[in-house]
Amino acid sequence: MRQRVVVLIMLFWSCTLAPAWAIDQAQLQGINERWQQSAHATANVNCSSCHQQKPSPQVLQSPTQESCKSCHEGAVDTFLLGKHGIRLLEGQTALTPSLAHLPMQAAAHNKQMNCNACHDVHSVKTLPASVDACLTCHKDSHSLNYKNSKHAQLLLEEGTLPRPSTASTTCATCHLPRQTTESGTVVVNHNNTFTLLPQDRMVKEVCMNCHGMEFAYNSIFDDDLVESNFARPPTLLMDTLKMVQALEKQRSGNPTSE
Ligand code: HEC
Ligand code: HEC
Ligand code: HEC
Ligand code: HEC
Ligand code: HEC
Ligand code: HEC
Repeated sequence: MRQRVVVLIMLFWSCTLAPAWAIDQAQLQGINERWQQSAHATANVNCSSCHQQKPSPQVLQSPTQESCKSCHEGAVDTFLLGKHGIRLLEGQTALTPSLAHLPMQAAAHNKQMNCNACHDVHSVKTLPASVDACLTCHKDSHSLNYKNSKHAQLLLEEGTLPRPSTASTTCATCHLPRQTTESGTVVVNHNNTFTLLPQDRMVKEVCMNCHGMEFAYNSIFDDDLVESNFARPPTLLMDTLKMVQALEKQRSGNPTSE
């Protein structure tokens, strides 16, 4: 056993159980501070909400998406349907960049895809999850070119907000789109495959919130422009009739997940 047991007693740890794993005090204090400023602390979601799966008294060192599910069922369910989560749904090991065809950051080779791959689970700030987290793994030219786009410039100007504003276009705006549920709440669809299939679903789901249909179609079907991450206006000229037909087909289609 390579386990060094360090007993930690945390004032704010709501249960009396002490986690038995090795971690230094400075790191623990950092975790506590990030949590205290989080939306979770405000909502009384505390350490044991995630680190203890009731009724079991056992303290988990690395909770998985199961610990989020009781409160964020939609996020978990949609995550599991996309490329990022499907391996977990099928009972396989988590997706890692080492399994990818697309170019990935070498340092992230063995980084496991889970909620905490994008979210600092203790601060749960969504702004860093929207771009910076993606780029810890993704290294294809489309992803790297995002910073050269007007979308990125506009995000920088808005960057002080705790959440990317609705006027911003982040990686997540296009790949994990916000959707309004029947009850009127805005949630993030965590299925990262959803807007890619069919190829123009993103037009209606995302681009047309801000751009005209023609502009959006001419952008999405221009491979060079996609590769540049939309860093210039579109030059392609698609037949308007074709766009309408494609959009109609998509509207009458049956989305696989919502
Ligand atoms: C929203 C759920 C959630 C809350 C609330 C939460 N944690 Fe965590 N915590 C996690 C997850 C998930 C991980 C695993 C992260 C990983 O593997 O990168 C984790 C990891 C840790 C670790 C291990 C870090 C390591 O490197 O091994 C410690 C220690 C920890 N949490 C302490 C706390 C303390 C103390 C609190 C309360 C102040 C807290 N957590 C609140 C979800 C949570
Ligand atoms: C006991 C319920 C509960 C659990 C468990 C829980 N959360 Fe939350 N979470 C909340 C509440 C309440 C909020 C604040 C209101 C909201 O945005 O829905 C929230 C907000 C969030 C936010 C948005 C923060 C923001 O600033 O807008 C993220 C991201 C998040 N949670 C991620 C997670 C992850 C990841 C896990 C599992 C590791 C988790 N939560 C576990 C209840 C929970
Ligand atoms: C690929 C990165 C990524 C992964 C993986 C991820 N998230 Fe998120 N999540 C985000 C981003 C980015 C946002 C904010 C997007 C926005 O508001 O435009 C977000 C927002 C949220 C929110 C607040 C909005 C809402 O829908 O209520 C919750 C809660 C949340 N995530 C929970 C989770 C849980 C639980 C998991 C694991 C099943 C998870 N996330 C996995 C990137 C991710
Ligand atoms: C832990 C590393 C990691 C993080 C963080 C991450 N991804 Fe991924 N992502 C992957 C891997 C691995 C694949 C699979 C690539 C392949 O098969 O070639 C992938 C695939 C994708 C795909 C393709 C989906 C498909 O169906 O083909 C998109 C789009 C994507 N990610 C967007 C994002 C966005 C946006 C973020 C941030 C909000 C993000 N990713 C964060 C590792 C990551
Ligand atoms: C304005 C919308 C938009 C933004 C912003 C955006 N993307 Fe994309 N992304 C797309 C489109 C469109 C495609 C191509 C879909 C296709 O060719 O079928 C794509 C493709 C991808 C793919 C490859 C999927 C595959 O299977 O080839 C990955 C990975 C990806 N994006 C990650 C990111 C990351 C990471 C960021 C932020 C750094 C980002 N994207 C920003 C729209 C966007
Ligand atoms: C939240 C609003 C928003 C969303 C969503 C959005 N954009 Fe944009 N986009 C903008 C703004 C604002 C600009 C900057 C316009 C300007 O400066 O003229 C821009 C700029 C662009 C440009 C560059 C234009 C130039 O002159 O350089 C392209 C191309 C583009 N967007 C395509 C897309 C596509 C394709 C989508 C969907 C995949 C999309 N955008 C989604 C708001 C958005």
